[in-house]
Amino acid sequence: MRNIVILISGGGSNMAAIVKTAQRERWEATVGAHIAAVVSNKADAKGLQFAAAQGIATRVLDHKAFVSREAFDAALADCIDEYSPNLVVLAGFMRILTPAFVNHYAGRLINIHPSLLPAFPGLQTHERALAAGAKFAGATVHEVTAELDHGPILAQAVVPVLPSDDAAALAARVLTQEHLIYPRTVREFLLR
Ligand code: GAR
Repeated sequence: MRNIVILISGGGSNMAAIVKTAQRERWEATVGAHIAAVVSNKADAKGLQFAAAQGIATRVLDHKAFVSREAFDAALADCIDEYSPNLVVLAGFMRILTPAFVNHYAGRLINIHPSLLPAFPGLQTHERALAAGAKFAGATVHEVTAELDHGPILAQAVVPVLPSDDAAALAARVLTQEHLIYPRTVREFLLR
């Protein structure tokens, strides 16, 4: 059985989409994989309740309790490695990761970002897309490398930007697509 560990910081809707898809498609039987744990850097991340209710192990590691980014990432890796992950899935995990962490999971670490990378890496993605007058927006699933929001692209989804959009409306339209492409890409990644 291959183990998936999902990292979240907040709502966890992408994590929930992956969990629901894994249940619906019976990944344990069809992919030979299961979601072993959901880890958050925030104790109040809403997604933790959903994961626990599904019987998935949940862990919280508060980054504020560590003296440095390096110390947090080392402890985070120790926590994740308790579940012997074949794949670590960043799903709204809002932390910049150290090169040591990224290297440790080289080839088994993926992220979703709410833009058509390489456009608009970083934060305030939708605000910047609107300010630039972008006519299309979207989401990207990519392998994680040491450079923030870069790395080989695995999947993208495109949505139109509508004249009436504010950042929240655009984010919601993009998020709907994230929920489709992320579970599909996780499955494909495990089967490749
Ligand atoms: C998603 O839109 C995801 O793409 C984004 O945060 C949101 C998390 O939502 N991630 C990033 O911006 C990472 N740079 P969720 O917690 O409901 O899945």
